Amino acid sequence: MSSEVMQTIAEKRRVDSKGRLRNGLIAGGPKDQRWISNAVSRQLVHRWRSEEDSVLVGYRTALADNPKLNVRDWTGRNPIRIVIDKNLSLPSTLHLFDKSQKTIVFNLEKDTEHDNLSFVKLNGTDFLSQLLNQLLSRGVQSVIVEGGQATLNSFLQSGFWDEARVIESSSTFLDGLEAPRFEGKLLSTTFLAGDKLHLFQNLKVKPVVLK
Ligand SMILES: NC(=O)c1ccc[n+]([C@@H]2O[C@H](COP(=O)([O-])OP(=O)(O)OC[C@H]3O[C@@H](n4cnc5c(N)ncnc54)[C@H](OP(=O)(O)O)[C@@H]3O)[C@@H](O)[C@H]2O)c1
Repeated sequence: MSSEVMQTIAEKRRVDSKGRLRNGLIAGGPKDQRWISNAVSRQLVHRWRSEEDSVLVGYRTALADNPKLNVRDWTGRNPIRIVIDKNLSLPSTLHLFDKSQKTIVFNLEKDTEHDNLSFVKLNGTDFLSQLLNQLLSRGVQSVIVEGGQATLNSFLQSGFWDEARVIESSSTFLDGLEAPRFEGKLLSTTFLAGDKLHLFQNLKVKPVVLK
């Protein structure tokens, strides 16, 4: 599959992005492991991971793709990994739980910290606002949201994002998930060996209010 980077955070820079096919889809669906973007774009995604404090995925992406969310195709530090798993149903065998880098699981069930793995309990209301508050209180200043569709949509609709980085592939698939739609100002388009990187700015950023 493809995932490109990123999104949110607090006072610092906020970025969001995702892999999008020319026909407006992203990879997705059961057992869908297609990479959308090319090697140059994937290397760029790893560079972005090395430049931001954290990288976040939703429950279904963690389960479907078993991502490592580390920096392999670039040099630099690994980001903190963040996953939303409200009911703690993700299997502990996933790469995300291998304790190889700091990982935070935002959920509705428990608060624990062991080694590199933290479970942080939130209540059901204003989930994203609470999540961002928790990150800020832990000194995490930026987060890249790598997907999937529902998670990207919830960040984009919440207004808690600064920048969207959309990697558009030259490939066309006949199926997939619809790429998120959002309003933002197109700042630039860059060519990446056949792929295109579109950079958007959110002109209506919702600030994170510390509680
Ligand atoms: N560029 C790409 O092509 C790309 C990138 C990444 C992923 N993907 C694909 O996308 C698919 C998964 O996408 P998806 O949309 O099905 O799922 P997803 O976004 O990975 O996960 C969705 C789940 O995360 C939780 N969640 C997300 N935002 C939340 C919020 N604001 N508040 C509370 N909970 C929230 C919800 O859990 P609950 O259901 O428990 O409420 C939601 O059902 C996979 O097939 C993956 O391969 C594609």
